[in-house]
Amino acid sequence: MDARKITVETLREWKGCRPLGALTAYDYPGARLLDEAGVPVILVGDSLGMVVLGHPDTTQVTMEDMVHHLRAVVRARTHALVGADLPYMAYETPAQAVRNARRLVEAGAEYVKAEGGREILPQVRAILAEGIPFMGHLGMLPQHVLEEGGKYRIKGRDDAGRRILLEDAVALEDAGAFACVLELVTPPVAAEIRSACARMLTIGIGSGPDCDGQILVTHDLVGAFPWFTPRFVTPRVRTGESIRLAAQEWLASLALRKA
Ligand code: KIV
Repeated sequence: MDARKITVETLREWKGCRPLGALTAYDYPGARLLDEAGVPVILVGDSLGMVVLGHPDTTQVTMEDMVHHLRAVVRARTHALVGADLPYMAYETPAQAVRNARRLVEAGAEYVKAEGGREILPQVRAILAEGIPFMGHLGMLPQHVLEEGGKYRIKGRDDAGRRILLEDAVALEDAGAFACVLELVTPPVAAEIRSACARMLTIGIGSGPDCDGQILVTHDLVGAFPWFTPRFVTPRVRTGESIRLAAQEWLASLALRKA
């Protein structure tokens, strides 16, 4: 195998030694650019429902959507570790979780991610028992946004919330998850989870600097979804504005040809 190919084992060796950067991709050019840039971990996130498919949240994303976009991303992969989200309602039981995780692996995923802690542990164990690497996702869970009244709330603000997060993280680590996204977790609690988990990498998004790595939705990083940018992201470029400008300049350049 190419020595530069990132594997789950590579990442395990990085814990405590070097920071991990992960970004989302949903199509061939997006993934190819990230892979060429040296991004070690790519996630085909179900955020595709919002930033690519135009849904108000992630709950309408289907397995068919995930497989379709994952296949395009995998065509671009050379070195990055590519994984995908199990979408909403795709891992209600261990059997369903395994069936759908296998579909993602058949489409080229090298790991799968799902949202939740101890409540999905039977599903996580079943996926891992199939030999499929698993990435957890704790804190604010976008697939549960409707149950939370449509609000993306910060987690770990009080002691009860802190304890739930810590116990969920340790349970995922004990089950064998190689990494866990911590989304909108208060920074001190994210730091505590990182210290409590000696083997599982913590990957923060809006959870402060004290994680083993960071992940962002690429569209937020490059200003490609300019109608909404999370407060914790500063876009590095304004792709959306560049596209508008290019289209306007091109339109203005069109000259009418007389027949
Ligand atoms: O769906 C997604 O893109 C994600 C990341 C934000 C972690 O879950």
